[in-house]
Amino acid sequence: MFRKFALAAAVLLSLPCVAQAADVTIRLSHGDNENNPTHKTAVKFQELVAKYSNGKAEVKIFPNNSLGNETEVAQALRMGSIDAEILYTGNLVPLAPSVGVLMLPYAYTTTGQAWKVLDALIDPINKRLVPEAGVRSLGFLEKGFRVLTSNRAVRTMDDLKGLKLRVSPNTIAIETFKSWGIEPIPMDWAEVFSALQQKVIDGQENPYTTAISSRFYEVQSYITEIHYMMWTGPLLISERVFQKYPKPIQDAVLRAGKEAVQYGREVSGEMTASAQVELKKRGMTLLGAPTDEERWQKAARAIWPKFYNDIGGADWAKEAIGIIEASAK
Ligand code: MLT
Repeated sequence: MFRKFALAAAVLLSLPCVAQAADVTIRLSHGDNENNPTHKTAVKFQELVAKYSNGKAEVKIFPNNSLGNETEVAQALRMGSIDAEILYTGNLVPLAPSVGVLMLPYAYTTTGQAWKVLDALIDPINKRLVPEAGVRSLGFLEKGFRVLTSNRAVRTMDDLKGLKLRVSPNTIAIETFKSWGIEPIPMDWAEVFSALQQKVIDGQENPYTTAISSRFYEVQSYITEIHYMMWTGPLLISERVFQKYPKPIQDAVLRAGKEAVQYGREVSGEMTASAQVELKKRGMTLLGAPTDEERWQKAARAIWPKFYNDIGGADWAKEAIGIIEASAK
């Protein structure tokens, strides 16, 4: 008997060291390519989950909408058939209206303020996200202001007239552009580059880093800093999946998510500065802010009450606006 055990132990010890398979695999989807801050955030999350779970959990990243468009994937998270996602807040609003409070135009106007708002609102938003969409946010990424790219110079609100501009398919973006006198075209993110190429649309709005990573300089000539909204986006985990994890894995995921979005915000700041230089080199004209920016602000802020029903009701909107205003102090 003893000899059998000794033999088995010797065989085991002589086996080459094989990496231990993780107990949990988190499939994470996002809609950008590998050169975008979204992907860098995903990679940091992957690294930190492995570290904090001592290898018991691993993250597999699926970039470029390869598992479906951002809204479809968020739906799959509710079912638990995909585990995690980073997406633009605007593409979550159709499923989770309450998160729309982060998109009120001109609600917060500096990076410092945005970070305070995103961190202060995480718990109140999660209280709504879980019942509304079956997902929880581990943290919010921020990639700077959404800027307008177009093939015609937009210096004033009147220059928008006649432009076919794509927006993310959510009421806030659509109504905001309407308040500026145009009828925007809601379209899935996955279709935007080819629509620009085929001239189905003349322009779109996304951060500087996206203009570079998605090669918009090949199909667009001008950038206007409309400053109306920042790109914010949650790092989501399916609630159904999360509740099945053992407590140590839940803790590792929560900690990794929080730290990964903070890293992503910092990287985005650095990448925005270099994207501006690179876009100029690639022939784009950076026009700065519209010369009549106050007019844009006045028009967009005037329609906030129109959004309250679509973003979780007037009570929630007031509570969230209170938190946003307190964060500005
Ligand atoms: C959009 O415009 O739909 C998003 O900003 C794209 C993204 O998630 O980067």
